[in-house]
Amino acid sequence: MNNTPLEDALVLATKALLPIAGERARFEARLLMGHVLGVDPSSLGLTHTVPLTSPQMEALERALERRLAHEPISRIIGKRAFWTFEFEISPHTLDPRPDSETLVEAVLARVAKDAPGRIVDFGTGSGCLLISILSERKNLTGVGVDISQGALDVATRNARACGVAERTQFLCTDWDAGVSGPFDIIISNPPYIPHQDVGGLAEDVKNFDPLDALTPGPSGLEAYTRLATACARLLSPHGFCAMEIGQGQEEDVARLFEAQGLHPTAQHKDLQGITRCLVFERKPCTS
Ligand SMILES: C[S@@+](CC[C@H](N)C(=O)[O-])C[C@H]1O[C@@H](n2cnc3c(N)ncnc32)[C@H](O)[C@@H]1O
Repeated sequence: MNNTPLEDALVLATKALLPIAGERARFEARLLMGHVLGVDPSSLGLTHTVPLTSPQMEALERALERRLAHEPISRIIGKRAFWTFEFEISPHTLDPRPDSETLVEAVLARVAKDAPGRIVDFGTGSGCLLISILSERKNLTGVGVDISQGALDVATRNARACGVAERTQFLCTDWDAGVSGPFDIIISNPPYIPHQDVGGLAEDVKNFDPLDALTPGPSGLEAYTRLATACARLLSPHGFCAMEIGQGQEEDVARLFEAQGLHPTAQHKDLQGITRCLVFERKPCTS
């Protein structure tokens, strides 16, 4: 395939991807080609007769092999579109899911455009939730917490690339250990899949998302137990928490937060109609 013109290489790549990508094969081929050449895929049409060099062809072949082994395109190209940005991702970070934009929307709906305040994101991963919110609310400052320093390195670069680094701090710790409040907003998309369910997940998830980002333990609720006590300790009197949850976890998660004096005040559904985000506030004082 040496010195193959770009358009011919795209046709070959599209054919190779057909079994795994179906009708998206041409689209995926263009994404991989753009990645290999270091150009925006939308500009490929301008150079379609240019021959690929041997190293470029080899890089394309390696990328195709990875895709045919079920690795998501986002992982091969190292970035994922989320909210209004393209976030860098790595083997240390969860690949952000479109469903998690539900949490971003839930928070923005509660915070006035120019409101000042502090926000903390537990299990920040690539930083996609925190950074998206900070980009829309210029008077907020934020802390992103994660147990993975590798993830925090990526989040730090993302905060810089998205122009919010000066209002963001990242902390490598076990949930709220060593974290000082109060915070006006507490968010988290913690790992919530029961450990025994991980084996049944799709190959592109179970083989490529970090295990610590997927599962917190046998029940799937272990992280929420920690987060409920963390929120009770750290939330300011008039603040709120927004938690992403797994399908069908609303009652269990609400019970854990209620036990810590945090009252569920709203539920938000994702685009498939699944309850994806719960909002909690402190119970009003009755005396
Ligand atoms: C489901 S991922 C969410 C990542 C990102 N917030 C997002 O929505 O794409 C959960 C994150 O929690 C982090 N995590 C797991 N256990 C943790 C712990 N004990 N303390 C802090 N973070 C933890 C993982 O490293 C992972 O980045």
